[in-house]
Amino acid sequence: MDKLVIEGGRRLEGTVKISGAKNACLPILAATLLSDERSVIKNVPALRDMSTMLKILKNLGVRVQQDGSTITVEPAGYKKYVAPYELVSTMRASVCVLGPLIGKQKKAEVSFPGGCIIGPRPIDLHMKGLKALGVDIKVERGYIVADAKNLKGSNVYLGGHFGSSVLATGNTMMAAVLAKGTTVIENAACEPEVVDLTNFLIKMGARIEGVATHRLVIEGVKKLHGAEHSVISDRIEAGTYILAAAITKGDITLEGVALEHIVALTDKLAEAGLEVKKAHDGIRARYARKLRPMDVTTLPYPGFPTDMQAQFMSLMAVTDGISVITEKIYPERFIHISELARMGADILLEGASAIVKGVKGLSGAPVMASDLRASAALVLAGLVAKGRTDVHRIYHLDRGYEDIEKKLLKLGAKVWREKEK
Ligand code: EPZ
Repeated sequence: MDKLVIEGGRRLEGTVKISGAKNACLPILAATLLSDERSVIKNVPALRDMSTMLKILKNLGVRVQQDGSTITVEPAGYKKYVAPYELVSTMRASVCVLGPLIGKQKKAEVSFPGGCIIGPRPIDLHMKGLKALGVDIKVERGYIVADAKNLKGSNVYLGGHFGSSVLATGNTMMAAVLAKGTTVIENAACEPEVVDLTNFLIKMGARIEGVATHRLVIEGVKKLHGAEHSVISDRIEAGTYILAAAITKGDITLEGVALEHIVALTDKLAEAGLEVKKAHDGIRARYARKLRPMDVTTLPYPGFPTDMQAQFMSLMAVTDGISVITEKIYPERFIHISELARMGADILLEGASAIVKGVKGLSGAPVMASDLRASAALVLAGLVAKGRTDVHRIYHLDRGYEDIEKKLLKLGAKVWREKEK
């Protein structure tokens, strides 16, 4: 296992290229299962989660070829419909093959995705959406077992206790595109990753109206064809580098990223005093004055993303004053607090809100990454901390941040990877 070592205290500056979005790419690769024809997916980041998804596709009998960031999927003639425990248990997002298998094979067996360090992650909305389409679906032997011979369009409201659901919307939509008749999904998620998936499905010949809104109207078709698609850039990776500029008092230009996808973050940071501007083909984030503390609440898109909460907390931990960070998507997603405290942060958890008292500085320490975004938060803290920080268990980071140490190194950080002893 690897760890990341950071000697903190350097100002980051320069240009960084943002990779393709992990959370758009995973369901798009799954969607290729809806056709018998070849699809070509470009701008695929080199990440552990992507390898897991490719293993799942291969395990289903699909041929997959990789050439750099381009993946060619040849599903012709695949007959299998099982996504086994050994693969699904390593990545919760594997559940997004459920909708495509139901749509194409009219049956599926997908290992029930387990719990997760960021709190309970139920799949009742996935089940609700698919049941509404006439799918007979139950949990047996730890698997979601679906029989979809009566797959037909229907109306379904996909709102849960915490609002809309990204992957439940994706799964329901991917089953509906090959269902008989019309499906209306109310309270559909409209995260940019869902929009990218929808655009890919439309390229495959799906008939979907209401793209990027909370009401998707899907007219089922008999067959989809293969398509070529370039995945959108990763707004969460982009946001993390913007925060790296803020926390190191730096000046970073991000290439290939859409400002409109991260307005909730950039607006907060601008209010805090960071200069964030549209630059040629991207965004420039520059520390120009002392930052002010900011309160944020995570919400479904276009609200402040839960996937930026931990990283934003690292910045507030060293911003003079008090800020309150409230989680409305995953109320237990606060494991990073105790690790930030090891570095000298002063953070109090009150229910689903963290009260952060900005301290003058952090000091490097050995810390343990608990999930992907918590790991990114610890890296940000390490960049500003005095001395050496060892971020252990960075396999989490490798699930979601392509070439993180190379990108940070290029921006002037002193960072390297070491094998754990
Ligand atoms: C996606 O997960 C992302 N993963 C997550 O990113 C992200 O945190 C999350 O959306 C929220 O934006 C992928 O896209 C692969 P949800 P997803 O269903 O779709 C509740 C990362 O770090 N809910 O939109 O699984 C749920 O508990 C990861 O990259 C139900 O109640 O999340 C949560 O409170 C972590 N029932 C809320 O909805 C359900 O059936 C939103 O979750 C499903 C979800």
